[in-house]
Amino acid sequence: MSTLRTVVTGTGHYLPKRVVPNSYFEDFIDTSDEWITTRTGIKTRYYAASDETTSSLGLKAAESALAKSGNKPEDIDLVIVATSTSDHTFPSTATQIQSGLGITTGYAFDIQAVCAGFVFALANANALIKAGEASKALVIGAETFSRIMDWEDRTTCILFGDGAGAIVLESDNMVNGSQDRGVLATDLHSDGRFKDILYVDGGVSTTKTTGYLRMKGREVFRHAVSKLVTSTEQVLNKANIKSSEIDWAVPHQANVRIIQSATQKLNIPLDKVIVTLEQHGNTSAASIPISLSVASDKGKFKKGDLILSHAIGGGLCWGSFLLRW
Ligand code: ACO
Repeated sequence: MSTLRTVVTGTGHYLPKRVVPNSYFEDFIDTSDEWITTRTGIKTRYYAASDETTSSLGLKAAESALAKSGNKPEDIDLVIVATSTSDHTFPSTATQIQSGLGITTGYAFDIQAVCAGFVFALANANALIKAGEASKALVIGAETFSRIMDWEDRTTCILFGDGAGAIVLESDNMVNGSQDRGVLATDLHSDGRFKDILYVDGGVSTTKTTGYLRMKGREVFRHAVSKLVTSTEQVLNKANIKSSEIDWAVPHQANVRIIQSATQKLNIPLDKVIVTLEQHGNTSAASIPISLSVASDKGKFKKGDLILSHAIGGGLCWGSFLLRW
């Protein structure tokens, strides 16, 4: 008997050159390195140069993931980009990256679930591959949140950074369960009643402008911990796995206090949690694939390790996935 699974065969990430420390903000808003560090865990973040875009960051991450997977661009028949900071209103960032890689076959599209975007993108790629609609996918999270910051709003501008991460996801026929690898379960949710606690105050069909990010941080924080925990319990149930079996948690990187609180409620020890936000800040949909790539490059994951990821973002949208490396 064979079971079709989708397996991660490569990871990559790209961060712009410009590193911005917390002290940068002390010159123009009433804040301090001490406040930012203790309330968020963030020390630095990266900002894209003026000639860089979400697709140019995503392209570099995709090239790296593709090279590590041993595939050529033409082997890829699906490109999904999770982003809320697309280069243009249309066409999609995914088609720009597809074209940058020289791929002219298959199909490419964007997914918009804000910070939960990569979880939504991976779940969709997994479903499309299992349905036979694709065989090798590039799943990318890429963002330039520095472009939607209100630099006078100290409650938000200190949190976010730019960057991109990518994985290659391939179909694999596990014959007789010989290898228990790949995506085991995914879990997605959204609830538009909470649109006013995290949003951008501009848009094509409203102001015809890009707008700036607005957030009621304390309310988002409250939803984040409970929803991340519930979704994780659901994804573990779907896969019939206990949280004690998790080898690594690779959570969305919004705030170290959210990460600590959610993983503690799930009984996942902190030494099994990948934390990159100290260096990168919150890169929204890019944070999970960047963290997967950084941890993979450091040799943290062994074949067969059980990895949990979960994320929440504007919408609200939230979800989780479980995969075996
Ligand atoms: N520097 C100094 N003081 C500040 C700053 C700052 N940068 N920002 C806020 N403060 C002040 C506030 O004005 C407030 O002052 P007051 O008491 O005089 O009114 C005080 O600090 C406390 O503010 P809180 O909002 O209660 O601070 P909190 O501890 O909640 O931390 C934070 C704020 C970091 C935003 C936190 O709430 C958080 O991380 N929320 C979740 C964010 C998140 O998860 N986002 C994920 C999704 S992002 C996406 O989808 C795009």
